[in-house]
Amino acid sequence: MALLEVKGARKSYGKLIALDMVDLAVESQQFHGLIGPNGSGKSTLLKCIAGAEYPEEGTLSFLDKDISTTPPAIRARRGMSLKFQITSVFNLLSVYDNILLSIQAAHSLWQLAGSRSRQILHPQVMDILSEFRIESRADDLAGELSHGEQQWLEIAMALAPGPRLLLLDEPTAGMSPEERRVTGELLRPIKARCSILIVEHDLDFIKDLSDVITVLDQGRVLDNGTPEQIEASERVREVYVTRV
Ligand SMILES: Nc1ncnc2c1ncn2[C@@H]1O[C@H](COP(=O)(O)OP(=O)(O)OP(=O)(O)O)[C@@H](O)[C@H]1O
Ligand SMILES: [Mg+2]
Repeated sequence: MALLEVKGARKSYGKLIALDMVDLAVESQQFHGLIGPNGSGKSTLLKCIAGAEYPEEGTLSFLDKDISTTPPAIRARRGMSLKFQITSVFNLLSVYDNILLSIQAAHSLWQLAGSRSRQILHPQVMDILSEFRIESRADDLAGELSHGEQQWLEIAMALAPGPRLLLLDEPTAGMSPEERRVTGELLRPIKARCSILIVEHDLDFIKDLSDVITVLDQGRVLDNGTPEQIEASERVREVYVTRV
């Protein structure tokens, strides 16, 4: 069974149908791209998976358990981590403390009261900062980082608690071409540890990283397949050439 399985998800806002009978499966250690034009439902799908929104119809299963009505905090504790489209680091805390908090937040109170002290978590914090090439900024306020570095910090925060599934909503938005290239380099090795479902606008960026790509259009799955299949898909080409 897939790590994550979404079946027949439907979500509407008033009369607008944001997701319409969406099926999606993410396998273990899979890099799964999610693309589609503006307003096609990509962020809504990620929010439904993380539990920030609940679909009116359909089921979700994660690690062989039905999580359709499971609250977001429990989904997170079971191994799901979401980076929202809008950057949300704590600007007035240091880069170091942002990471520390994200690890501590994933632990239960009794663990925190016990051995999970700052000192014990220090190597884990420094490892992830160095993996994302921001260890030299550890003592700076997160608000002082460049936009690209803030995005990397936020991905690092989502990854620090050791999720089984990382949900990333447009992690390269607003980045320079060089920053996008570095982001690709930073994301590639993550697949060895967990699965990634990543929303992107840019097929060129995502096709080099993804094992599988799902394309949404107006709340529906337009196509699903390997990057080669998606690139060759007439339906996808029609949407991308005529509407994006
Ligand atoms: N909270 C909300 N209330 C009302 N409508 C919403 C809400 N959130 C999303 N929508 C609408 O649902 C549709 C899907 O939005 P969503 O944000 O999922 O698209 P998206 O594919 O992520 O777009 P983008 O590429 O612009 O980020 C859009 O028409 C959007 O306006
Ligand atoms: Mg979006």
